[in-house]
Amino acid sequence: MTSRTTKYLTAIAAGVALVSITGGLAIAGSKAAFPPLGPLPPPPIPKDNPMSAAKTELGKKLFWDSRLGGDASSPCVVCHEPSKGWGDAGEISRGYPGTTHWRNSQTVLNSAYYNKLFWEGSVTSLEGQAPSAAEGNVAGNGDPSLMEMRLRFIPEYVKDFKQVFGSDWPRMFNAYQAIAAFERTIVSDAKQVPFDRYMNGDKKALNASQLRGMSLYNGKAGCIQCHNGPLASDQKFYALGVPENEVFKSEPLYQITHRWEHYQKGVDEKSYRGADLDLGLYYITKNPKDVNKFRTPSLRELKYTAPFMHDGIFYTLDEVVDFYNKGGGAGPNKTALVKPLGLTDPEKKDLVAFLEALSMDKPLLMEAPKLPPYEPMKTSAK
Ligand code: HEC
Ligand code: HEC
Repeated sequence: MTSRTTKYLTAIAAGVALVSITGGLAIAGSKAAFPPLGPLPPPPIPKDNPMSAAKTELGKKLFWDSRLGGDASSPCVVCHEPSKGWGDAGEISRGYPGTTHWRNSQTVLNSAYYNKLFWEGSVTSLEGQAPSAAEGNVAGNGDPSLMEMRLRFIPEYVKDFKQVFGSDWPRMFNAYQAIAAFERTIVSDAKQVPFDRYMNGDKKALNASQLRGMSLYNGKAGCIQCHNGPLASDQKFYALGVPENEVFKSEPLYQITHRWEHYQKGVDEKSYRGADLDLGLYYITKNPKDVNKFRTPSLRELKYTAPFMHDGIFYTLDEVVDFYNKGGGAGPNKTALVKPLGLTDPEKKDLVAFLEALSMDKPLLMEAPKLPPYEPMKTSAK
């Protein structure tokens, strides 16, 4: 077992312990209580990466800087664009040139609150996530030592790293810390979210339809069973039977990435050659009971982050609600928690209206920073 897996399993165990929190909402006919939705607290800040304005400014520049990547094509921002809900608005994300990705690009908005990142929860911190993005072959595809050398040739960065981290030269480890600190500023603003305003005392912030939707969410529709707590995610894993994206049946580039991911993640020869299903959590645990399970995503900011699900199969919240109303899909390990709901058309509308009230009134946009240029280094030869 790798140390990453050990850490990860510890995190799961901690998650399990949290489920027993009482005082949450109960679903009619079920004894379980769930942590209620509510305004988000400030994001947790790791002790070994404290926040500072200089650090988040540096992280912002690096998030935009294509010199963190293989060629000049793939900085973080191309797959996490502010104007596309900090995702890439495609079903399956674009990939590094010559490749495609194999999953929907997740939003970076509120990623600061997860302790399991990626659709199968394979890393436990933003600091740990950034290298797999900048260096991963179908994302940034950058070589860390080469990227570090590039940063040394940008005098403004040399100054920034000295100021923020006290080092004489930029180091990739610190670059990832700065990016993580910047991501911790990309969070929902409670003043702009109708649901949060309502919870903070403005009883007019939700209209009648949204209030009916909230009752459905916490009751008949059962969404609270998994999308719970302030983030609207329990950070656990379930198989819903989300339909596979057809591109994997017909497009060689997608099939190549799918099989290559299987190879990277060390699945058996048969699955590797016959790849036709995203195995989700199974890649981490190699437990057949985890095939097809994905981490519950937050339901905040959905107004800006379509399409939805790990393979971007649904474009609208109406489609998502229809999917749940039918009892989800079919497939291995399908959870018993998702079953036909019997929602009427007006109820479906109310539920969608409530989901929209979990997004800010306006999208969180951001100007691109001005990126500092390379400069030649003075050589010792006269
Ligand atoms: C080529 C596109 C691409 C690039 C470049 C890219 N990402 Fe991503 N990002 C994705 C995709 C796709 C996912 C989901 C991948 C998965 O689950 O396997 C993702 C997931 C994430 C997540 C996890 C969010 C969550 O809810 O768990 C974070 C955080 C993130 N990316 C940050 C970054 C940062 C920081 C960079 C730059 C260092 C970056 N990304 C570069 C496509 C990209
Ligand atoms: C059994 C746990 C569970 C229940 C109950 C549940 N969900 Fe989900 N939800 C998930 C998981 C897991 C995913 C990710 C699935 C995937 O991508 O394959 C998801 C994904 C979503 C997404 C896509 C979000 C995104 O960013 O792509 C939406 C929207 C959503 N659920 C809404 C709802 C609504 C509305 C309800 C109630 C009708 C509901 N969910 C009930 C676990 C659950």
